Amino acid sequence: MAGTHPSRDNIGADGPLERFEWQIGSAADFAAEGKCRIVVIGDLQVGVYVFQNHYYAYRNFCPHRGGPVCRGSVGGAMLPSEPGVFRYGLEGRIVRCPWHLWAFDVTTGRTAFGIDRRRLISYPVIERNGSLYIEFKRPHEIAAARLLSINDAGGPG
Ligand code: FES
Repeated sequence: MAGTHPSRDNIGADGPLERFEWQIGSAADFAAEGKCRIVVIGDLQVGVYVFQNHYYAYRNFCPHRGGPVCRGSVGGAMLPSEPGVFRYGLEGRIVRCPWHLWAFDVTTGRTAFGIDRRRLISYPVIERNGSLYIEFKRPHEIAAARLLSINDAGGPG
């Protein structure tokens, strides 16, 4: 498991906004477009996607019924068009949950074409010095990641 990097440089209305960066590997390890690479961080599974040289990360949890959405296929979709016209596009940008085939846009985490308001749970991905980091902002995820990093380091004290 990769190392961690805590940070507290954002200021919110109630004081510093804490965030926690978790190194997931080198950028070269995640270079393949059209595929998802799942990173396991304790109990959390995060799917990392690349589309047009941008990285996107989502919890492996479908907002429909909790399926393993990041294990779904990545491809394109039929596009809205006039009657009798079939247009395919968005190749590499659509992930389909394997349970009931809901389709999500890899670049936004929203359902394709806005058919439902639910969306994937996203994480910012930071590229720095050839490495990639996932940023945690939710307090319970920060606490879990911090605990893991302490355990990785052999425990406190
Ligand atoms: S659980 Fe993902 S589409 Fe139903």
